[in-house]
Amino acid sequence: MIKRIRSWWMHKDSPKPLDITADNIPEHVAIIMDGNGRWAKRLGLPRIVGHHNGMKAVKRATIAADDLGIKYLTMYAFSTENWKRPKDEVDFLMRLPQEFLAIELDELIERNVQIRMMGDKDKLPNHTLKAMEDAMERTAGNDGLVLNFALNYGGRKEITDGMTLLGHEIEAGRLKAEDINAELIEKHLKTHGIPDPDLLIRTSGEMRISNFMLWQLAYSELWFTDIYWPEFNKDHLHDAVAEYQRRTRRYGGLS
Ligand code: IPE
Ligand code: IPE
Ligand code: MG
Repeated sequence: MIKRIRSWWMHKDSPKPLDITADNIPEHVAIIMDGNGRWAKRLGLPRIVGHHNGMKAVKRATIAADDLGIKYLTMYAFSTENWKRPKDEVDFLMRLPQEFLAIELDELIERNVQIRMMGDKDKLPNHTLKAMEDAMERTAGNDGLVLNFALNYGGRKEITDGMTLLGHEIEAGRLKAEDINAELIEKHLKTHGIPDPDLLIRTSGEMRISNFMLWQLAYSELWFTDIYWPEFNKDHLHDAVAEYQRRTRRYGGLS
């Protein structure tokens, strides 16, 4: 691990030594990738150009997270509320996963990355789902960085669906209402088997959660930046992790 971080320090694009230590790397980083539209607008370009450049930032963030030894990287790519946007924009966004994977999947496989997805599959176009499922299948045996895309994901929907599953189990007599506890609820969420995010990053200056991982973010450290998502690079991830390492996590107790 120390060796990996050191090689990252020495990288020519990153001359400044990182003030981060190898023994306190967040295991799970979640990112609300926001500001694609405003980034494009600032340049007088259509919003979709922002989304296209946002895709390149996903690649940069993934490589940087992997180099740093982060184990899980969850990317909020499309929310259950984003269907409200104009059809053209939604159609473009739904084509990005396959474009991203067509360009990047081979390198991600070389890096031993495992692709996952969380969100409602029903509403996704077939071509989007197929690209994601193909990538998940091809990387299922990898045990490196888990790159988890939140696609048609909403925290309230996730919790609601989990409660419905629990309700069915009670109706079927397999479970008693008194048996419900936090652990059981977690098992019925889409993140089952994935630890809660240690660090949440949101770009674009907005300081809200926007229906992302409502249960799992209970004790995550939050880091906000004014930069727009298409500008995100490894230095920003480094700043976020360095700040994370300066925080004291108390979980309601005393440090
Ligand atoms: C984030 O950028 C990408 C998605 C939500 C899909 P936005 O598209 O929200 O960009 P802004 O917030 O309008 O600038
Ligand atoms: C959150 O960004 C969703 C994603 C990044 C996919 P939004 O741009 O949809 O959030 P709001 O509408 O500003 O809260
Ligand atoms: Mg936005």
